[in-house]
Amino acid sequence: MKEYGPMIHQLLKEVHIAPSILSADFGRLEAQVAEAIDAGARVIHVDVMDGHFVPNITIGPVVVKAIAPMVHERGAAVDVHLMIESPERYVERFAEAGADTLVVHQEACVHLHSVLAQIRQTGAAAGVAINPATPLETLSEARHFCDLALVMSVNPGFGGQSFIPTSLAKLAAARAFLPRDVALQVDGGVTAANVAELVRAGANWLVAGSSVYGHGSVADNFRTLSSAAGSA
Ligand code: DX5
Ligand code: ZN
Repeated sequence: MKEYGPMIHQLLKEVHIAPSILSADFGRLEAQVAEAIDAGARVIHVDVMDGHFVPNITIGPVVVKAIAPMVHERGAAVDVHLMIESPERYVERFAEAGADTLVVHQEACVHLHSVLAQIRQTGAAAGVAINPATPLETLSEARHFCDLALVMSVNPGFGGQSFIPTSLAKLAAARAFLPRDVALQVDGGVTAANVAELVRAGANWLVAGSSVYGHGSVADNFRTLSSAAGSA
């Protein structure tokens, strides 16, 4: 089991802006992650894409392994969003690389119960994500076997897309539907303008890619989002 376990379960109970490195400058990845953590980030979101489940291809376990020690040393966690087919083939590799959460897509798992158990076995927190057109009710069983549910508010694959407005009501319904101890994450199109209403709807982990890394100062952007979330 990973030593980091207890800390991730505390973070899952709290409200956090999770900067997504998808929109970071990969040539200066370590500095970009450090900047967000130094500004107060405690959850670093890593988007893994395979060119099959989603059209884009991004990163694998080697990049998680490269950043995880520094993220952990600074007191933050690595949140890994697997937008890949057959994620069960990679669970151990990402956990060994330093992932503190592993979030798989409901749509990508034939044996979801088994994959969630496999993730917990590594010591990582187990998350399940649903795409915008996937009904919440598809989690009626899985909600009892996960630590985190992720409601996608854009179609996965790319940063910088606009928030799909119906996601707000879906989040509120998800909060009522999920057991109290399951964290609720939202991912896609999160900005300083909508983050407070997302928190009011019940989301407590708010992924932000382009609104942290897309323009200006990473630290200022993070603090603006955090204070907007805190004022909800
Ligand atoms: C999209 C990814 C997101 C992405 C969000 O498939 O899962 O995590 O980084 O980017 P923004 O915040 O720019 O919508
Ligand atoms: Zn993501």
